[in-house]
Amino acid sequence: MSDARTEYYENSENIRPESMERITTKELADKFIDEQIEKLRAQIGDGKVLLALSGGVDSSVVAALLIKAVGKQLTCIHVNHGLMRKGESRMVIDVFEKQLGANLIYIDATDRFLDLLAGVSDPEQKRKIIGGEFIKVFDEEAAKIEGVGFLGQGTIYPDILESKDGIKAHHNVGGLPEEVKMELVEPLKLLFKDEVRVVGSALGLPDEMVNRQPFPGPGLGVRCTGAITRERLEALRESDAILREEFKNAGLDKKVWQYFTVVPDLKATGVKDGVRAFEWVCIIRAVNTKDAMSATIERIDWELLEKISYRITHEVPGITRCLYDVTTKPTATIEFE
Ligand code: XMP
Repeated sequence: MSDARTEYYENSENIRPESMERITTKELADKFIDEQIEKLRAQIGDGKVLLALSGGVDSSVVAALLIKAVGKQLTCIHVNHGLMRKGESRMVIDVFEKQLGANLIYIDATDRFLDLLAGVSDPEQKRKIIGGEFIKVFDEEAAKIEGVGFLGQGTIYPDILESKDGIKAHHNVGGLPEEVKMELVEPLKLLFKDEVRVVGSALGLPDEMVNRQPFPGPGLGVRCTGAITRERLEALRESDAILREEFKNAGLDKKVWQYFTVVPDLKATGVKDGVRAFEWVCIIRAVNTKDAMSATIERIDWELLEKISYRITHEVPGITRCLYDVTTKPTATIEFE
C-alpha cells in the first residue's frame, strides 16, 4: 500500500470510535446532519467543491448534505456512461437540479463508452475501460471549472474497512486515483449503509433513491455479458425495468436484497406470432445476503415469475426466452461477470 493510503487508514479521523451511537432514528440523523453541516462549512469555507453524482445512495446523500451546507459552492457532475438503468439519469436530474436546486452538470457520454467497449468481451477489461473512461470524462469536466479546492466523496465505513483489508479493489477508498490534488470531503466515512439510508431519508431524498438496491459501478455493462452491443443493451435495460416494476408491485423491492436481469450473448430458438424467432435468452436473478460475500436465492412465487417472463418475452424486442437463476453464492457470484 502506498504511503498516502497507509496514512489515510492510520489517521484516527478514519476510525469509528466505539462510543459512536448507531444512527437509527430521524432524531439521531438530524443531529448528525447539523453537526456535519457545521463541519463542512468549517472545512470548505468559501471554497468550491466538486462531486461525481452517480445517483447511488452514498453519493446522493453526500450531495444532499453538501447542498445544505454550502449550496451553490457545490457542483455535481453526473456522467451517464450509457450503462445506467432505465430512468436513472432522469431521476438524478429531477431530484438534484429541479427539486434541490443543485448546480448539476449532466454529461451524456454514452457514445464514448459504447464505442470504446465495442468488441471487448473480457470482463476485467470491460471494467477497466469503464472505470478509466469515467475518470477521464470527470476530469475533463472538472478542468472547465476554475478554482476548485475540494472533492466530495461518498466513502462509507465498510469501504474503509474493506479497502484496508484488501477485499475489494474495485471499491477502493478515494475511488478516484491518488494524484487528485483536491482536498477530500467525506462526511459519511464513519457510517454504515443502514445509517446512510436513515440520514438520506431525514434529508428528504425520495424513498426510491434512499432504499435503492446495490448497483455495480460498471452498471449494466457487467450484465450485458461478453461484447456489448447497443441492441442487446437496450433489451437488457427494458427487461430490467419490467422486473423492477413487477417486484415493486409485489412488494418484493423491500424484501429482496438485489434483483436484476442479465442478457448474455446467447440466442435460442423460439416462436413469435407463429414465426420462428432465433433471439436472446434473458436470465432473472434475485438474491438475498447480509454482506454480499455469500448469497441465497429468493424463492420467488411461480405465478409472478411466469408473469414477468410473459411480459419480458412479449414486450422486449429480441427476447424469446426467460430463465431463473437458482444458484447460490458460492459457487456463483451475484453478478455474471
Ligand atoms: P459479486 O458479483 O462479486 O458481487 O458476487 C457482490 C456485490 O458487489 C457488486 N459488484 C460491484 N460493485 N463495481 C461495483 O461497484 C463492480 O465492479 C462490481 N462487481 C460486483 C454486486 O452488484 C454485488 O452487490
